[in-house]
Amino acid sequence: MSVDLAPAQSEPPAPSPSVLPERTLTPAELRAVVAELADRPQEWIHRVRLSADERWYERLRLSEDHEVWLISWLPGQSTGFHDHGGSRGAFTVALGELEELSLGGPEGELHTRRLSAGTVRAFGPEFLHDVRNTAAGPAVTIHAYSPPLGEMALYELRASGLRRTAVEGPEQW
Ligand SMILES: [Fe+2]
Repeated sequence: MSVDLAPAQSEPPAPSPSVLPERTLTPAELRAVVAELADRPQEWIHRVRLSADERWYERLRLSEDHEVWLISWLPGQSTGFHDHGGSRGAFTVALGELEELSLGGPEGELHTRRLSAGTVRAFGPEFLHDVRNTAAGPAVTIHAYSPPLGEMALYELRASGLRRTAVEGPEQW
């Protein structure tokens, strides 16, 4: 007995990979983004809120290659040590004053920086820091990340160094 087999269906051609190169802004470009926005308070000042529960934040811009956040800080509010999930970033203190802790140097020493209004900080994908408002009044900051943040890990500073304790995704923001 013979069985007629239908000719094998050929698979449709796989879609060609996107021809768009993945574009990532450099820390210097992100620095320019936040500095330029800080100079145009009419675009964001009316959005600022203060929250006693936690830092208040709102995303001002989201595109394929970067995002921009506006954050307010009451005295005592802080991030704890965190990374940026491999994104590059920059932020500026638009109003008020903050303090930033980071580890650096061959010995991994703890550095403390006062960030007065107008200060801009930019960083690469491996950077970790803890930002806090130790001043007497509120502060407002503008942040840019590229690519847009995926997830961020939180760390605890121990005698042996930083220990990863949790991971946050966009659903927590
Ligand atoms: Fe950060």
